[in-house]
Amino acid sequence: MTLGEKLCLVFLFLRIVFTPSSHGNQVVLLDTTSVLGELGWKTYPMNGWDAITEMDEHNRPIHTFQVCHVMEPNQNNWLRSNWIFRQAAQKVYVELRFTLRDCNSIPWVSGTCKETFNLFYYETDESHGVKFKPSQYTKIDTIAADESFTQMDLGDRILKLNTEVREVGPISRKGLYLAFQDIGACIALVSVRVYYKKCPFTLRNLASFPDTVPRVDSSSLVEVRGACVEHAEERDTPKLYCGADGDWLVPLGKCVCSVGYEEMDGACFACRPGFYKAFAGNIKCSKCPPHSFSYGEGAAVCHCEKAFYRAERDPPTMACTRPPSPPRNVVFNLNDTCLQLEWSPPSDMGGRRDLTYNVLCKRCGPEPDQCQLCGEELRFVPRPQGLTNTTVTVMDFSAHANYTFEIESLNGVSKMINYPRPVAAITVSTDQVESVSLTVCWQQPLNISLLVVDYEVKYYEKEHEELSYSSTRTKAPSVIITGLKPSTCYVFSLRTRTSAGHSAYSPKYEYETTDDTSDMASDQGQVLVIVTAAVGGFTLLIILTLFFLITGRYQRQNPVSPLFFSALPYPGVKTYVDPDTYEDPTQAVHEFAKEIDPTRIRIERVIGAGEFGEVCSGRLRTLGKREIAVAIKTLKGGYVERQRRDFLREASIMGQFDDPNIIRLEGVVTRSRPVMIVVEYMENGSLDSFLRKHDGHFTVIQLVGMLRGIASGVRYLSDMGYVHRDLAARNILVNSNLVCKVSDFGLSRVLEDDPEAAYTTTGGKIPIRWTAPEAISYRKFSSASDAWSYGIVMWEVMSYGERPYWEMSNQDVILSIEEGYRLPAPMGCPVVLHQLMLHCWQKERSQRPKFTDVVSFLDKLIRNPSSLLFLLYSLLFDPSVSLAESPGEVVDYHMFISIGDWLDSIKMSQYKSSFVAAGFSTLDSVAQMSIEDVRRIGVVLIGHQRRIVSSIQTLRLQLLHENGFHV
Ligand code: ADE
Repeated sequence: MTLGEKLCLVFLFLRIVFTPSSHGNQVVLLDTTSVLGELGWKTYPMNGWDAITEMDEHNRPIHTFQVCHVMEPNQNNWLRSNWIFRQAAQKVYVELRFTLRDCNSIPWVSGTCKETFNLFYYETDESHGVKFKPSQYTKIDTIAADESFTQMDLGDRILKLNTEVREVGPISRKGLYLAFQDIGACIALVSVRVYYKKCPFTLRNLASFPDTVPRVDSSSLVEVRGACVEHAEERDTPKLYCGADGDWLVPLGKCVCSVGYEEMDGACFACRPGFYKAFAGNIKCSKCPPHSFSYGEGAAVCHCEKAFYRAERDPPTMACTRPPSPPRNVVFNLNDTCLQLEWSPPSDMGGRRDLTYNVLCKRCGPEPDQCQLCGEELRFVPRPQGLTNTTVTVMDFSAHANYTFEIESLNGVSKMINYPRPVAAITVSTDQVESVSLTVCWQQPLNISLLVVDYEVKYYEKEHEELSYSSTRTKAPSVIITGLKPSTCYVFSLRTRTSAGHSAYSPKYEYETTDDTSDMASDQGQVLVIVTAAVGGFTLLIILTLFFLITGRYQRQNPVSPLFFSALPYPGVKTYVDPDTYEDPTQAVHEFAKEIDPTRIRIERVIGAGEFGEVCSGRLRTLGKREIAVAIKTLKGGYVERQRRDFLREASIMGQFDDPNIIRLEGVVTRSRPVMIVVEYMENGSLDSFLRKHDGHFTVIQLVGMLRGIASGVRYLSDMGYVHRDLAARNILVNSNLVCKVSDFGLSRVLEDDPEAAYTTTGGKIPIRWTAPEAISYRKFSSASDAWSYGIVMWEVMSYGERPYWEMSNQDVILSIEEGYRLPAPMGCPVVLHQLMLHCWQKERSQRPKFTDVVSFLDKLIRNPSSLLFLLYSLLFDPSVSLAESPGEVVDYHMFISIGDWLDSIKMSQYKSSFVAAGFSTLDSVAQMSIEDVRRIGVVLIGHQRRIVSSIQTLRLQLLHENGFHV
């Protein structure tokens, strides 16, 4: 090969796009492509390898070494690199790029032409200059080309560049040489790169990890401890492991930003003014709580504004607060032995809840400045200080004395101020024990459908305005008020409390007592009559008029003609508020659910898994210090805001309900982690599994009792305007008294959560077997679709937790319902109950029963258990009618099974009136009849007597043995 050919090779190399490979985790010790000046490599012999340096288009040198003595035998041409400093390497990588000519493509070279070359190294602590002894070198490898090229390739200007990498190590001397031995090949060495690998400096979990050289042994890792970045502190020792390829592996431990600093882009930055961070941790700085500020950067706490304070144990996250204003409306009630003081809480609680009251008593002489502290003879019940209720009873006071009581409100920061604290004072003269009594009567409100709980009469001395008033409650429409001062004008008004809440107060009426106390000891004293009435069931009109039954002892203050005025309307029936209508879901949850301090909760056991996290049982310490059993639903960590909102939506819904058959919400924990929903604990868990576990254990009456409870719960929901959408036995919980309560609220969410819910063709997720056809087809959910689901729950209950429609597919269920098929009566299910189910499964939703009817129907069944005896339609109806397959023909089940039904069923209808006239109006009473009774009521034909008596015997047997009835 001529030099011209060699140069041609090089020239072709110049056309190769030459991108030196480099990686972040490589430390390059030598790269011939980046050496600008002479390389200075040595060749032995001189005419073996040729060093050729060309310039690329950027005028940078390309150093290549070529050799091509393919025609001459016994070649031994060496090329040696310069001395390469090892730095920190324990092992180096040698990357060679070269081309190699295919011997077959060169004529007449067989036997002399080779297609490999050898790579050697030599470790030394210093450079040896030009000295070169091949025997000192250790062979690394024989290098062959993956791709060799031919003359034709040359002609086509196609060059096949080979890249080979070899590992050299372990190495320990300061440096090394590389040597290339040619034994008769045609080679162009285009570049040589020598590098070692390292795990580069990195920041992880707020810790920095230095450049680290991996171990030579590629199977073992280097453990590296990180150093926390500025303003961060260790949690668990931060560690990383450096792998052989220079990759960081297995991060362990972490650092967190210190107090006053927050994490941003892997570093800790000081909180801005107005913000603070009280705890070390990877949380953000928070805005200063109300009534506090921070001026500088990096605040650990915010300082309280003037006149606001933090109590010793207040956390820095809490708002600064102030002492409360004094109590209001102090009133007293005095009788011979007790003086009761009562007041209203302060208008300003100072932003705290730890409100208490102290009562200070002073006994005063005739002049106001002649006061001294009361002695210990006065007894305060429960105590004079640290009161948490707004009332105290004072006993053992002296008669004919003037006492002044100063009532002070206090909270956790009251002791931070030492100036005199404002108090509310009231003076009581125990002379008033000799007082006037007055009977106040009124008429019960008319036309109120709501139950009256009690009445409250409020009264005060006109002269003292309403600042301090007394009030008394009574269930009767009259009350005797004692302890009134003689010759004093009083103002009275009255309000009514019903199950829906309080009415407004009636108008005020003034009345002046006489000055003669001696006669007032009579039973009635003076009498004031107030007349109240309700109009239209909603608006309470109170007609006030006076009748003074004892003449000569009154002075009338108002005209005799009645006064009419209307009070506030009764609050109507409460309706459900969709929490999704709140812009801020957290506001909704706090509107309807109490925030519970998590220290009041003790989690005991995990009892299940919900969609959002575990469900646990535990105990909740109530504010009255009692402990109650609770179930606790938790929101597992790592949730997104949407999951938190969905989770808490259930609490926002449940918190609006207050019914014995709806699961009761105790409260929520939203201000700390984990977020929790706390509800009453139901010892027997969900109804479906409970029934399966106790298959056949209950009497029909017990089962109907459960159904009645569920219906009553759903009646409450539908009255509130809430549609459950997922009524099923699995969503009913049972307590230790077998009380069933509806649970699992949350609209769409419940369906997401329900393993029974399947996707419909329109994309909705619906529990097909429990859902009314119109809800499946076009999502028409209503209380009527809840009624359909209720019918399925009835079927589940009466079959002890059997799966509705057994193993039929969802598609088949939909089709068969469409064709009119309905679930048949479960084994042992009374006909009336199956009829009720069929009524719930009417295709036309307006024809399904209302829950209020369902409840009263089940109540009747419970009161009249004999109606539950009929297990077969044939007993009552024409057996040719198969009700299970033709719901349209359902006999009106409201026709309660009566004596008439029974006589009809045995074709003895003609005796109906005889039975009723003789007082046998229920099946239970008939079951007690003897043959004589049957004769006596007028059944004279022997055949008829026999038929009736035989049916009575059947009845009796059924009553005794079936379904656990004991009559
Ligand atoms: N599982 C889910 N909620 C429950 C509750 N309230 N009581 C018992 N088990 C439950």
